Amino acid sequence: MPKKITVLLGSPRRNGNSDTLAASFSKGAAESGFKASSIRITGLKIGGCIDCRRCWTNRAQHCFLNDDMKDVYAEIDKSDVITFVTPLYFYSWSTQIKPVWDRLLPYFHPKSKVDLKGRRTVLIATAGDDDPSCFDGLKKSFELACDHSKWEIAGLLLAPGLHDANEAQNSEEWLKRAFDMGKNLG
Ligand SMILES: Cc1cc2nc3c(=O)[nH]c(=O)nc-3n(C[C@H](O)[C@H](O)[C@H](O)COP(=O)(O)O)c2cc1C
Repeated sequence: MPKKITVLLGSPRRNGNSDTLAASFSKGAAESGFKASSIRITGLKIGGCIDCRRCWTNRAQHCFLNDDMKDVYAEIDKSDVITFVTPLYFYSWSTQIKPVWDRLLPYFHPKSKVDLKGRRTVLIATAGDDDPSCFDGLKKSFELACDHSKWEIAGLLLAPGLHDANEAQNSEEWLKRAFDMGKNLG
């Protein structure tokens, strides 16, 4: 069985910079035998966590809310590598992907039926700013979340200087770095 990667696409901009780098990453990962499947979050109905403390109480499903997050849970449950893809929005996660993070709460519930400890994870982020320090807050957020989740960070691709939607497509350097990160996942 090939190892499975779930790629959570967090930009509302189809074929924009983060999509492009995620596609290149997936191609590289496919070359080293992974099966990557992408989920475009934009267009899905995924509400924010409402802190109802009813994880696993609705017919033993992860979350009490009945929305498209159930499809994301199903993919994450069986993933070896979970990849978060986001444009930098005000030094943080995109509006689209942040609710997905919050809805991971059921996995940390004492009654969780799925143990994600030890899973591998990747972050791909793009930003308009040329200064790589613009990612400091996002990177810290990711690292703390992975530490809390006991996930191993298998790759970090933080690409600054990409503003217009087609800039990643025209950057051989970033396309190659994304591809290589996928190929070297091992
Ligand atoms: C609402 C919003 C907030 C943004 N905030 C930042 C920011 O804080 N720093 C930055 O460098 N770029 C910021 N950007 C620019 C995007 O991060 C950048 O264009 C990115 O490459 C877009 O990726 P995409 O094409 O995958 O959507 C912002 C863009 C939007 C729409």
